[in-house]
Amino acid sequence: MSDATPETIYLKDYQPFPFQIAQVELTFRLKPRATRVLSRIAFTPNPARPGRHDLFLHGEKLKLISAAIDGKPLPDSALAITAGGLTVAAAHLPQGPFTWEAEVEIDPEGNTALEGLYMSGGIYCTQCEAEGFRKITYYPDRPDVMAPFRVRIESEMPVLLSNGNPEGRGKGWAEWDDPWPKPAYLFALVAGDLVNLPDRFTTRSGREVELNIWVRKGDLDRCHYAMDSLKRSMTWDEEVYGREYDLDIFNIVAVDDFNMGAMENKGLNIFNSKLVLASPETATDLDFERIEGVIAHEYFHNWTGNRITCRDWFQLCLKEGLTVFRDQEFTSDMRSAPVKRIADVLTLRARQFREDMGPLAHPPRPDHFVEINNFYTATVYEKGAEVIGMLKHLVGDDGYRRALALYFDRHDGEAATIEDWLKVFEDATGRDLTQFKRWYTDAGTPRLSVSEAWNDGTYTLTFAQATAPTPGQAEKPARVIPIAVGLLNPNGDEILPTTILEMTEGTQSFRFEGLATRPIPSILRGFSAPVVLDRKVTQAERAFLLAHDTDPFNKWEAGRSLARDALSRMILEGEDPSGQLISALEAMAGDDSLDPAFRALCLHLPSADDLAQSLADAGHEPDPDRIHAEQKRLAKAIAARLEPTFERLFGAMEVHGAYAPDAAQSGARALRLAALSYLNRIDGGARAKALYASATNMTVRQGALICLIENGTAEAALADFRDRFGANRLVMDKWFASQVLHAPPADAPGVAARLAADPDFDWKNPNRFRALMGGLSANHAGFHQSSGAAYDFYAGWLIRLDALNPQTTARMSTAFETWARYDAGRRAKARAAIERVLATPGLSRDSTEMLARMLAARQT
Ligand code: PHE
Ligand code: ZN
Repeated sequence: MSDATPETIYLKDYQPFPFQIAQVELTFRLKPRATRVLSRIAFTPNPARPGRHDLFLHGEKLKLISAAIDGKPLPDSALAITAGGLTVAAAHLPQGPFTWEAEVEIDPEGNTALEGLYMSGGIYCTQCEAEGFRKITYYPDRPDVMAPFRVRIESEMPVLLSNGNPEGRGKGWAEWDDPWPKPAYLFALVAGDLVNLPDRFTTRSGREVELNIWVRKGDLDRCHYAMDSLKRSMTWDEEVYGREYDLDIFNIVAVDDFNMGAMENKGLNIFNSKLVLASPETATDLDFERIEGVIAHEYFHNWTGNRITCRDWFQLCLKEGLTVFRDQEFTSDMRSAPVKRIADVLTLRARQFREDMGPLAHPPRPDHFVEINNFYTATVYEKGAEVIGMLKHLVGDDGYRRALALYFDRHDGEAATIEDWLKVFEDATGRDLTQFKRWYTDAGTPRLSVSEAWNDGTYTLTFAQATAPTPGQAEKPARVIPIAVGLLNPNGDEILPTTILEMTEGTQSFRFEGLATRPIPSILRGFSAPVVLDRKVTQAERAFLLAHDTDPFNKWEAGRSLARDALSRMILEGEDPSGQLISALEAMAGDDSLDPAFRALCLHLPSADDLAQSLADAGHEPDPDRIHAEQKRLAKAIAARLEPTFERLFGAMEVHGAYAPDAAQSGARALRLAALSYLNRIDGGARAKALYASATNMTVRQGALICLIENGTAEAALADFRDRFGANRLVMDKWFASQVLHAPPADAPGVAARLAADPDFDWKNPNRFRALMGGLSANHAGFHQSSGAAYDFYAGWLIRLDALNPQTTARMSTAFETWARYDAGRRAKARAAIERVLATPGLSRDSTEMLARMLAARQT
């Protein structure tokens, strides 16, 4: 392990920084292997920390050339330098304000971790969140130190960008000024041979804003959807949250090598090119939707994240949960709200529930960490957003609006905490949120069990909540749970419209009086709280709700549980594919009054990982091979029964005319491809083959290709795909991912190994690495092969990547987070693979923390 004893950082140890910064001035003299960074920082004592203090500045992998205070060079004896930073003892500091000046040298080309200043395809770019700025210069690299920045870039590159407004430029230089105080993690710089898609936006108070999307030359024709999404986001934030943009220019840059999705640097967002570039021929409907959502997300950060930032990294969900919540609202408004909600719950369950029920469980606001980069998780982001959704249910739309207005008013320009956030809700609505706060501080997904009673016109629902212990948290006191409930009568009419029940006790009953007949309840409508609902329901009642529920989420959920139950019984008891499920799907798929996108979601069977989790929850050791076989058997039975319906849909859902990535067209394509994937199991692959050949957009082309891969007849199509798109990195990522993800499980490690040897497997590119390795880990039965072949292969690649890029390696290591749920044979093999990675000399702190937490899950 490289960093001898990785140090744990605790929330309770928070102390304000002893100095404030009045102004930062930076000059960059860019050279690929030896960039010089000159800094001039005006410090003043922080009244929140009276007394005299040493000056500690973070700094990593910097070559210090010179340092001075108030113009006087500091002797070496006045500086104490370690691997993490530099200290000037209080005795060497003037009392009162002083100016720190330093020059350092850094090596962008040698920076393979993609954190700090690095090069991607000849472009200089930066990534500073969370703690990358300390790899650029000595600085208090913490989010509660906010300052205005002036930046001068000296380089022969034609395009030189930084945060804020342009101040001037000439041959070989440019200057930028950002008047809005910001923490260092929002700093950005880009220099490269780039071209721009320009546009304009006038804010509602009349500010003229110049918009640009900067890309490499050949990519300009694939930026239009991103630009359109940006303008719609700007309008939406004005209309819905009253938030206007606050600079004269907003720049977005797309780069190919990026550890994450995108970054909200003030006025200069930097994106993974996969979340900017799209054309009908190269991007799927889902890609377009993600681009729209992420462009919005980063733009929304300008207020929730930048103008109001986080006091410390424990508060990360303050900006991320809220910004995810806002981008979800935006997408619901742009597209279909019920479809968006179902899609969000699907990801929440697939990623966050999996995390929350395993060894990596942590609260949305953790209270300790070793490496903050390991906490950009589904819990911080997606559960962070769910918690806000619950708050909104509790205080109502109007209360939410008032609380947000107060939040912007009270905390603009500040670095805030979850306590500040909850306080604005308390002050705006008069509610006491003490108990609600547990959602932020406690890990684990509550299980909500339900029982019911009917007596003489009175219907009683009794709920009991329980949360299993999570690492470091044994006690789980009751939480406030908003449970949205509706009641239907046996004819299928709604007799009680959606009502929020507020559960605050461990066990609690709610009574509904004066009813003529015993009702059928629809519980947890819209998924009003991130809990697991445990209710013994007959298949007949589920089929009834699938047919009659007026709440679209619960209608879908009824079909989902029907399918999950049927599959579990097939897996555990070898039952025949459920007739009830198939009839219900038939009625739903053929109902043209329903949104095609919704029907496509209903036809999607629970994933293998989802089934494995529910089997493990019920005390079984899931058998991946059996899960796979039963999924196939059920899909085939559905295909056989619904063949006429699928044939009709395959014809009727064909989209004619010009391609548009909107909700209507993409819904039709999704339903058509869902029908195809069933038909493909019984038609010998004829339709997929023809469809691949005639495809005019990537959604259809990829859908057909996947069918061919599943059939084992994709050779010609894969060669054709490569001929067409070999030069397009993003499209080739799909080529790599699909082959492994959809390979028959027995072949998956072999396919992965063959592709890893392909000359186009540029494993240092995070997107390419994620395409191949992510495809393998998502091939459930393939990854969890009993031989352990995939575990070994995967571990070998983690070891290899860790030496270059710890952040991406640590994230990818979560493929192993469920290792403890399988049988002893698989567990032993997974454990050996994890231990092999952990034993690697020099393994990063990032990967060490993740793998050690995973191993702690189980002794044997
Ligand atoms: N803050 C970014 C976002 O959510 C994510 C990110 C984190 C990007 C860390 C890079 C590094 O929008
Ligand atoms: Zn974000």
